Amino acid sequence: MKAFIVTGTSRGLGFEICKQLIKRNHLIISIARNNNDTLLELAAQNNCEMHFVKYDLQYTEGISDLIQGILKLVINTKLESITLINNAAQVTPLGSIDCCTPEETVRNVQTNLLAPILLTQSLIKQTEQWGIHRVIVNISSGSAKQAAAGMSVYCASKAALNMFTSCIQLESHRSLTTYTVDPGMVDTDMQAVARIEEGLPMSDFFREVKETGSLKSADDVAKKIVKRVLTS
Ligand SMILES: NC(=O)c1ccc[n+]([C@@H]2O[C@H](COP(=O)([O-])OP(=O)(O)OC[C@H]3O[C@@H](n4cnc5c(N)ncnc54)[C@H](OP(=O)(O)O)[C@@H]3O)[C@@H](O)[C@H]2O)c1
Repeated sequence: MKAFIVTGTSRGLGFEICKQLIKRNHLIISIARNNNDTLLELAAQNNCEMHFVKYDLQYTEGISDLIQGILKLVINTKLESITLINNAAQVTPLGSIDCCTPEETVRNVQTNLLAPILLTQSLIKQTEQWGIHRVIVNISSGSAKQAAAGMSVYCASKAALNMFTSCIQLESHRSLTTYTVDPGMVDTDMQAVARIEEGLPMSDFFREVKETGSLKSADDVAKKIVKRVLTS
């Protein structure tokens, strides 16, 4: 049995990743602020054990306990591996930095950066003695490398997540594989948010990409990610 913890599963890429992980010998724990009944129904139809954990990853002080609770759900199962996919993120606040509120700026960094860091830390610590293969996949973005006016907080949080991952790769952890994945531009709600943001220099570009049909489908991107995850 392989266990998977996926964040941000209510919609978009995380939903598709979770959907494609549904298999009889997989145990899936999905995390988001909102449930998606379709996933639980699909899992039940395919004899796949799935648990939904409602959690707002902005509340980073609870993340160690969150992982502890999740590991209790899998502890009685004979596992060959456990995989964490840090997918949940928000693109907001968008706009010139002086127009962003401190509250939304903090929420972005908590969700996009601090939560994946603490989930990684807690998972590594709490499974150190388990003797199974551990995989941590951090969903990154082209924005980690491409600076964009009006997207400073998102770009910075993704760039920092890349660096965090590179540092962990240099550490010695028993049976741990970790890497980032840049999914490219995907047709999800996140794109829609960026497309309609007034005064964002990149909005015209985001609209053009949508209108010319250049966005990738979440389904296709998830297939590639899941293929890689299953061979990690
Ligand atoms: N779409 C793109 O073009 C694109 C490009 C590059 C990288 N990415 C990356 O791909 C990943 C998925 O993006 P997406 O486009 O699928 O985004 P999305 O459609 O906006 O979905 C984001 C998911 O994250 C969850 N989430 C957001 N804030 C959360 C919080 N505080 N606590 C728990 N869950 C939270 C949402 O669920 P709830 O609202 O129910 O909590 C939702 O399920 C992100 O890491 C994003 O940065 C996307």
